[in-house]
Amino acid sequence: MQETLNPWRLSVAPMLDWTDRHCRYFHRLLTRQTRLYTEMVTTGALLHGDQPRHLDFNAEEHPVALQLGGSEPADLAACAKLAERWGYDEVNLNCGCPSERVQRGAFGACLMAEPGLVADGVKAMRDACGIPVTVKHRIGIDRIESYDFVRDFVGQIAEAGCEVFIVHARNAWLQGLSPKENREVPPLRYELVHQLKREFPALTIVLNGGIKSDDEIAEQLQHVDGVMVGRQAYHEPWQMAGWDQRFYGQNGPAESREAVEAAWMDYLERVQAQGRGWPQAMRHALGLWNGAAGARRWRQVWSDHKLKTLPPREVQAQATAARLGVQAHLEQARAA
Ligand SMILES: Cc1cc2nc3c(=O)[nH]c(=O)nc-3n(C[C@H](O)[C@H](O)[C@H](O)COP(=O)(O)O)c2cc1C
Repeated sequence: MQETLNPWRLSVAPMLDWTDRHCRYFHRLLTRQTRLYTEMVTTGALLHGDQPRHLDFNAEEHPVALQLGGSEPADLAACAKLAERWGYDEVNLNCGCPSERVQRGAFGACLMAEPGLVADGVKAMRDACGIPVTVKHRIGIDRIESYDFVRDFVGQIAEAGCEVFIVHARNAWLQGLSPKENREVPPLRYELVHQLKREFPALTIVLNGGIKSDDEIAEQLQHVDGVMVGRQAYHEPWQMAGWDQRFYGQNGPAESREAVEAAWMDYLERVQAQGRGWPQAMRHALGLWNGAAGARRWRQVWSDHKLKTLPPREVQAQATAARLGVQAHLEQARAA
């Protein structure tokens, strides 16, 4: 099954403050096949800032893509080169972020109004590196509802050599909505993404936005090449433990939540040994037991500020006791 599947079949979305290297390592304990994306990094931060801080990742994270925010072709090219040199498997250009800060920098979703500039950027990136250059965008901006707008955008960028498009299936409203509202308020229109795939069958079209269940993923894969999942994967990470089997026909790495937790504790200890503080990493794993008895108690212990200076294994012992305490209580109640 593996050989015939395209590398974009399933992915976890780039999410600022969330999909850092700790988060991606954690996700890798749950799924080996799913493609992972970094948070968006601006070209300015990369070219003038602390490159190792932005670019370092764990070898286990592959396949992993670097997402860039920027619009200057020369800067994008320089960053694409860095992405390749650092060992990323893909470099992705953000044309979907609606935040005001991003608009002031004239990139993100407002780039959809400038397909010529995006095409120049994509071409420059492709000339500068040998890894795939991909674009993540919306179906429209503001009140532009027509399919033609997104079709012309994709057509023009494809001519510049981009072969993979990740489409968040709602508009970005550039005025009056916060980034969070812009992920919830503009309506989802999956049919436009399906239409893109029909019109550009040679391109890899990945659908994103509002996908929750595995059945929804399977349904979308009937129409498009791939599905990208953001918030659901982050909040309900255990769901990913079934993805390798169901969507790639491969055994996944996660045998049980206990086994994932054990491997994650090893990682937290390494983080702590490097003097980086485990709570920064642990915050991404708080959903591990969601859906199981005692999940809330387990999460509460891990979130307790008073425990944040303890070694992770001591906190784990307390968290597990809290979780099992609830479970034992439930079992007793059931038996009674
Ligand atoms: C906390 C958060 C941060 C995000 N940061 C980015 C980002 O850096 N780059 C980007 O392209 N999209 C970003 N997004 C949007 C997601 O990648 C995705 O397109 C959106 O959440 C819709 O997918 P979902 O409904 O599966 O979450 C972010 C979303 C969230 C919730």
